[in-house]
Amino acid sequence: MKQIVAIYPGSFDPVTNGHLDLIHRGCKLFDRLIVAIAYNPDKGDPLFSIEERMEMLRAMTADLENVTVDAFEGLLMTYCIQKNANAVLRGIRAVSDYEFELQMALMNRKIEPRVETVFMMPAEKYSYLSSKIVRDIASFGGPLTGLVPELVEERLRRKFAQKQAAITEIPTK
Ligand code: PNS
Repeated sequence: MKQIVAIYPGSFDPVTNGHLDLIHRGCKLFDRLIVAIAYNPDKGDPLFSIEERMEMLRAMTADLENVTVDAFEGLLMTYCIQKNANAVLRGIRAVSDYEFELQMALMNRKIEPRVETVFMMPAEKYSYLSSKIVRDIASFGGPLTGLVPELVEERLRRKFAQKQAAITEIPTK
C-alpha cells in the first residue's frame, strides 16, 4: 500500500502550541510526517538559529514515533522529491492566511504536480497565535502561558535576557 509521507514546512521561530496542535493532527493522518525548518529570507533575521529551532522541535515531538524534524534550504518542492514526500501540510488559522497559502500551494503544484498540499485547521484557541506575536510578547516580558511549551518559554526568556545584556554592555563614549 502507498505510504503517505508529508512535509510540514515552516519557519518555526519559535514553535508554538498552534504548530504542535497541527503536528499532532497531521501525524494521525500521514504515515510519516517530517517537520522541516526552512530558511525564509522574507522574514529577515531569525530570533533562533536553525539548530536552536531544531532542538526545541525535537524535544516537543520526541514522543511521536512517525514524526521527524529536519531543515532545508532552497525550494520546498526540491526537498519534497529528495525525501520521497507526496504531501505538504500547511495550517490555515483564518481567512487572512488563505490567499497566501493558496498562491503557494498552486505554485508548488505547478513546480511539482506529484506533491499535494493538504490544509488543516488548528484548534480555534490557536487561531490568533503566531510565532511573530509570541516573539513580540516575549520581547516585552509579557505572559506566554498557553501559547508555547514551557521549554520554548524558557528559551525565549533566556534569548531576550541575553539580548538585553548585550545592549547594556555596549560601552558609552
Ligand atoms: O512558516 P512560514 O515562514 O510561513 O513558512 C513559509 C515557507 C518556509 C513554507 C515558504 O516560504 C517556503 O516554502 N519556502 C521555501 C522556498 C520555496 O519553495 N519557495 C516557493 C514557494 S511557492
